Amino acid sequence: MGADHIISLASGYGNFAPPAAAVARAAAALQGGQLPVSAIEGLPALREALAVRYLAAAVSAEQIVVTAGTKPALFALLKAVLRPGDEVLLPTPNWFGFWKLIEQAGGIVRPLPLVATDNYTLHPTALEAAITPRTRILLLSNPNNPTGRVYRRAELDAVLAVTRQHSDLFVLSDEIYNFITFGTEPVPSLLEWADPLGQHLVVNGFSKSLALIGWGVGYLVAPPALARACAAWQFSTAAAVPVPNQLAALAATEAAQAIADELLAQLAHNRDLLLDGLASLPRVHCPCPEATYYAFPDFTAYLDPSLSPEAASAALVARLQAAGVGVVDGATCGAPGFARLSYALSTNDLQEALQRLRKALQ
Ligand SMILES: Cc1ncc(COP(=O)(O)O)c(C=O)c1O
Repeated sequence: MGADHIISLASGYGNFAPPAAAVARAAAALQGGQLPVSAIEGLPALREALAVRYLAAAVSAEQIVVTAGTKPALFALLKAVLRPGDEVLLPTPNWFGFWKLIEQAGGIVRPLPLVATDNYTLHPTALEAAITPRTRILLLSNPNNPTGRVYRRAELDAVLAVTRQHSDLFVLSDEIYNFITFGTEPVPSLLEWADPLGQHLVVNGFSKSLALIGWGVGYLVAPPALARACAAWQFSTAAAVPVPNQLAALAATEAAQAIADELLAQLAHNRDLLLDGLASLPRVHCPCPEATYYAFPDFTAYLDPSLSPEAASAALVARLQAAGVGVVDGATCGAPGFARLSYALSTNDLQEALQRLRKALQ
């Protein structure tokens, strides 16, 4: 079947309206006449509000740099930390965007494959074995994009017990989906752990959990000297995030839990719909993701065995696309034969996409 209208389950951005309080704060700034230019590292009020968010972790505002989204935050940190020949250890599956970011910052990706049947557990022994003198960063996404897996306290305790043995190693945690969790406990932030060696780096943003899609606001948290280096990088390569956007982010920070709760309520029905729909497809396995608005089902039973895993994965995605459903090829996340499907879209479109999927796999 050739579908003239493709329903995309591939976008990483949801269909959420921006929070009213954030829009109102930005609008008031725009109507106030000439706009001030922000300091390069961000408005003090926003950095303070973010520091308060991490109060338990005793993060100070000087450790925070506001950036034009999470990608620039990641890039600034990678650029600041990586030396020629340095490697970034990337547990996979992981967000496809990391590969190019690391490459553009001059690093080399070293995948650390985790497996679905083991619930993507990051074993300390496997981590220790993967660390070499070249390893400069362990890069995590928590919650993980694309698997939706949340790495909890006990598991991270064990991981950080390993990384603490390597004083030259940084741990970079991308926590952009932190509020989109259907678990009973909050997702832990790396900042909650003591960091005597100054190894812990965190990035986050407003385009997922806080519904400021397209507003271009993110931030990094790092030891003060590194934060200053990233601000200097931003000064010479870009500009401060515009003040109305930062004020919108400030309003979203102040109302973070309420905004996230509303998103979770909006997403709950679609989540059930997608997971039930996938469970009813023959030979498709899909563990229930605790967080994010993605499912990451295993379609390996449908791969053409005469092709390489990557080519077979691309062929499967092309088959789904031809049937009118766009998905992210798991191969781009380090997991050929899997696909990332978003359910942050209209229920009608999701229902139609599921019907098309069923037909395409027949
Ligand atoms: C894990 C992860 N980090 C960073 C980003 C980029 O976020 P931003 O829109 O804030 O640049 C994305 C977007 O899909 C993502 O999934």
